[in-house]
Amino acid sequence: MTSQIIDWHTLGFNYIKTDLRYLAYWRDGRWDEGKLVEDNQLHISEGSTALHYGQQCFEGLKAYRCKDGSINLFRPDQNARRMQRSSARVLMPEVSEQQFIEACKAVVRHNERFIPPYGSGGALYLRPLVIGVGDNIGVRTAPEFIFSIFCIPVGAYFKGGMKPHDFVISHYDRAAPHGTGAAKVGGNYAASLMPGAEAKLKGFADCIYLDPATHTRIEEVGSANFFAITHDDEFITPRSNSVLPGITRLSLMELASQRLGLKVIEDDVLVDKLEYFKEAGACGTAAAITPIGSIQHGQKQYIFHSRDEAGPIIRQLFNELSGIQVGDLEAPEGWIVKV
Ligand code: PLP
Ligand code: COI
Repeated sequence: MTSQIIDWHTLGFNYIKTDLRYLAYWRDGRWDEGKLVEDNQLHISEGSTALHYGQQCFEGLKAYRCKDGSINLFRPDQNARRMQRSSARVLMPEVSEQQFIEACKAVVRHNERFIPPYGSGGALYLRPLVIGVGDNIGVRTAPEFIFSIFCIPVGAYFKGGMKPHDFVISHYDRAAPHGTGAAKVGGNYAASLMPGAEAKLKGFADCIYLDPATHTRIEEVGSANFFAITHDDEFITPRSNSVLPGITRLSLMELASQRLGLKVIEDDVLVDKLEYFKEAGACGTAAAITPIGSIQHGQKQYIFHSRDEAGPIIRQLFNELSGIQVGDLEAPEGWIVKV
């Protein structure tokens, strides 16, 4: 049991050991039913493919405390399906949507005391993962797998939350044109560690990657998707099959169209045409909606809105999305699963 006293209002995105985590094994061609365990250490073979060949994938989703005390999971079916696609991409067995959602609910229920209170802006972040384990050395799929979910209470991923952040265009690539960019696999994140660290050293919140083939189009941030608002009030987000198909992005596309009445476009976002946009943002489960104050590209710097505060459309999108997540606003059909 952790004896830490959590200050809900200053939580960032840091590991905190919570009470119980879910652990299931895939052996002899099937997943077992899994159980909740106290131990936060995994005991795995030194030959595990996850350690050598990056055979693993992960997910990220949040549970929110509502005003009436109930608990909302936001679109866990989407995370379940994305984890199935990521698993398939690296030859791992799929976890059923039902097992995924039931495991998420169990983890939330048994760590209820870690859910940040309604109104704090925080949430309980769930981190599901599938890893290849078991004795092995050749480059091939593992003989056994682990599916686990742990959770941590979190606040803002980018410090300051809705305060605009400065980003820089990276000259590194995160994923190859026909590689694993659309799968949530660790290798993409390993590739982003050095570029991200270099950007942060220079004072930026993170870097933004361009398409690996031509380096002319914006793809995404290392930990979130990119979107922008044109001067004609259109919501635009990059069309690419090497970016992670984000669930926040998908949700914002629907909210922008259905609730804000904006035209929504998935298209090329040319890095030398950033002046077309009056607002820009990064969106993701951890990042929520993070306004982009500026983007540095070589010697050029583009500024969005006032740079000091989020623009009006991003604020409206944030209010809609966060209102739905904590149950204050009516959710589109199927978006909320009660724990
Ligand atoms: N892009 C990357 C590289 C990410 O890591 C994430 C976070 O999961 C996203 C985009 C946004 O995805 P989602 O909104 O499903 O969290
Ligand atoms: C998420 O938003 O869930 C992510 O996985 C992003 C990052 C923390 C890797």
